[in-house]
Amino acid sequence: MQAYQIKAGQQIAGLELVQRTISAPDAREVHVRVHAISLNYRDLMIADGKYLSTGDVPVVPCSDGAGEVIAVGAQVTRFRVGDRVAASFFPDWVYGAPTAQNTAGALGAAVDGMLAEEVVLHEDALVTIPSHLSYVEAATIPCAGVTAWNSLFVEGRLRAGDSVLLLGTGGVSIWALQLAKAAGLRAIITSSSDEKLERARGLGAAATINYKTTPEWQDEVLRLTEGRGVDLVLEVGGQGTLTRSIASTRMGGTVAIIGGVSGFGFGGELSPFALIGGAKRLSGIFVGSRSMFEDLNRFLSVAEIHPIVDRVFLFEQARDAYTHLEKAAHFGKVVIEVVK
Ligand SMILES: NC(=O)c1ccc[n+]([C@@H]2O[C@H](COP(=O)([O-])OP(=O)(O)OC[C@H]3O[C@@H](n4cnc5c(N)ncnc54)[C@H](OP(=O)(O)O)[C@@H]3O)[C@@H](O)[C@H]2O)c1
Repeated sequence: MQAYQIKAGQQIAGLELVQRTISAPDAREVHVRVHAISLNYRDLMIADGKYLSTGDVPVVPCSDGAGEVIAVGAQVTRFRVGDRVAASFFPDWVYGAPTAQNTAGALGAAVDGMLAEEVVLHEDALVTIPSHLSYVEAATIPCAGVTAWNSLFVEGRLRAGDSVLLLGTGGVSIWALQLAKAAGLRAIITSSSDEKLERARGLGAAATINYKTTPEWQDEVLRLTEGRGVDLVLEVGGQGTLTRSIASTRMGGTVAIIGGVSGFGFGGELSPFALIGGAKRLSGIFVGSRSMFEDLNRFLSVAEIHPIVDRVFLFEQARDAYTHLEKAAHFGKVVIEVVK
C-alpha cells in the first residue's frame, strides 16, 4: 500500500509518497482502509520541525483520518468489517484525565499517522463516525473538532447563553463556531478578512471583528459585551493575541490556551496582575480523549452538524494540500480524499 512519510523539519517538499507493507492485525487490532484525512496546523509545524514531540525517523504524518474497517483481529469486540470509523488523536487516552503516558503516542508525530491508504490500529484507538457524515466530513473531527469540544464544554464548562470569543477562521475556530451555535452560545469571531467574517455570520456568529482593521479588538469585544467580557476565549493566536484575549475575558472567566498561529513566543506578554485582579483562569488544552470524541459524535448526530470543509484534494496532491493550508486562505478544514 502507498503512504506518505516525512521527517520532522524536512519542510513540505520533504513529504514523499512511498510503498509500505502493512502487517495483518493482531488479536485486538483493526485494519482500516483510509478514505479521507484532514490537515491541521500541527502538520505544518511538524514539516517545519517546530512541533513538540517528533522522532528522528520518517513517519506517516497526520492525526486525522476516517475510513472503513476491512479486517479485524480475533479478539476484537468493538468493530466489525464494514464499520465506518475514525482514529482518536491520542490512541491511548480513552477516558479520564490526560497523563504523560496516555498522551505520549499521538498519531502522525512520533508514531505513524493517517496519511496512508491503509492503517492498522488498536480497537481502543477508534470511534464509530456519525452516520450522517461522509468520510471527508468525519476526517475533520479528531483534532480540530475534539479540541473545540473540550475547550467549550469540558475544560470550558460553558452552558447555553454563555459567550465565547473565537480567533480567526481556521479549523479549530470554525468547528467551535458550529458547536457554539448549535449549543445556544453567543459567539464572537475575528478574522483578517471581511469576506470570511460574512461567512461566519452566515454560520451563526453573533458579532464579528476584523483584527487587521481593528487591531485593538479587545476594546470591541468589551463594547459588544457591555464592558463585561466573554465567558471564554479559544486562544489560537499566541503572540500578539494572548494579552488581548485575557483583556476580552470577563472577571472569573477562562482563556483556553490552544495554539499559536501567530507565534508561540508570548511568555513575555503575560501579566500576572491581569489574571489575579481579574480572577481569570488560563487553561491549557491538549486535544481530548476518545470519550470526549464519542460525546462530540453524539452531539453532532443530534444537532445534525456538517463540518465546514474548505477544499478537498486528491491523495496525489498532498503537498498541494499542505501548501494551501500554509497560505491560510482557507475557512474551516482542508481535506485529502484517499478513496474517491
Ligand atoms: N492544543 C491543542 O490540542 C490544539 C489542537 C488543535 C490545534 N491547535 C493549535 O491551534 C492553532 C490553530 O490550529 P488550526 O488547525 O485551527 O489552524 P489553521 O486552520 O491553520 O488556522 C489558520 C487561521 O488562523 C488565523 N490567524 C492567524 N493569525 C491570527 C491572529 N493573529 N489572530 C487571529 N487569528 C489568526 C487565520 O484566520 P483568518 O484567515 O480568518 O484571519 C488563519 O486562517 C494552531 O496553533 C494549532 O497548532 C492546538
